[in-house]
Amino acid sequence: MSSTFPVPTMPAPPVSVVGLGQLGGSLAAALAAAGRAVSGWDVDPAARATAEAHGVQVTQELTGVVVLAVPLAEMATALDGLRVDPGATVTDLGSVKVPVLAELGPPLGDRFVGGHPMCGTERSGHTAVDPELFAGARWALCLEPDTDLRRWLRVAEIALAVGAEVVPVTATEHDDAVAAISAVPHLVAAALAAAAGQAGPLALSLAAGSFRDGTRVIASDPAFVTALVAGNAGPTTAALDRVRAQLARPWAELVADGHAVRAATPGRRPVRVPLDRSALLSLGRSGGAVTRRLAAFVEGWIPDTA
Ligand SMILES: NC(=O)c1ccc[n+]([C@@H]2O[C@H](COP(=O)([O-])OP(=O)(O)OC[C@H]3O[C@@H](n4cnc5c(N)ncnc54)[C@H](O)[C@@H]3O)[C@@H](O)[C@H]2O)c1
Repeated sequence: MSSTFPVPTMPAPPVSVVGLGQLGGSLAAALAAAGRAVSGWDVDPAARATAEAHGVQVTQELTGVVVLAVPLAEMATALDGLRVDPGATVTDLGSVKVPVLAELGPPLGDRFVGGHPMCGTERSGHTAVDPELFAGARWALCLEPDTDLRRWLRVAEIALAVGAEVVPVTATEHDDAVAAISAVPHLVAAALAAAAGQAGPLALSLAAGSFRDGTRVIASDPAFVTALVAGNAGPTTAALDRVRAQLARPWAELVADGHAVRAATPGRRPVRVPLDRSALLSLGRSGGAVTRRLAAFVEGWIPDTA
């Protein structure tokens, strides 16, 4: 299959979301608020009721772009018993990508496009639904060698419709990258909190901003965090080793380097990228993102450090 071809303008496809908790419920509500046809299903009647209140049609018949927004352990079986249009494109919001691709790639083939919106809070379930959750967020979208670019663009268009910016990645690149910026922060937050607990009640009573900010994410559902790190064990172990090596450095050097990375505020240089897999992946690798899709290319930006 050629990786570059003209793409005709098509009407926005309907979206069906399976799992109407924090991520899926927020996506469905955001699309409904934008006037899009959106339906969904959840095993929890309370989640279904919340989605309905946001204008989502509750049904087990899924069509258009089907979004799996269930916990990682449920991904492989989430479509069991549901009626899925055989032509539907299927995507997911899971926090790791290689294991989900291994589970869903073989049965779905090029109908599957893996994704991961980089947003969410330490809350979970339908009571955490927020239609603004995706505004300004990066949304990693997997472009494997056999990904159907037309289906990738259909999913990208949904991410753009809710205000996210699309980062083209491979599943392997994604898992390596999020090990450093998501899995390790969750584990380090757990270690900080556990060590503060060992330090005793006085330490915990004095805990303020630094402790709150450094441990916020470990208030998340432990099952979610365990799935996030265990599902990405190899890259997470490598990323933790890098953190251990950093901690062994002289403190003044470490603080200066960490501060420089955290305080850097690169600008954005606008770019146009052809609808071509390698060009799109280059954009993602350079730290850029897609903000708009046009007929034969996408618009986006790359970091401008000049
Ligand atoms: N929470 C985050 O910060 C975050 C961020 C990005 C991606 N994700 C990913 O998004 C996905 C959903 O996470 P969440 O935080 O929204 O979880 P959540 O617990 O808030 O919601 C999950 C929903 O899925 C439903 N569900 C469970 N099994 C189901 C099944 N078999 N069929 C239909 N519905 C089912 C649950 O009832 C629940 O409503 C996960 O794969 C997670 O890795 C989470």
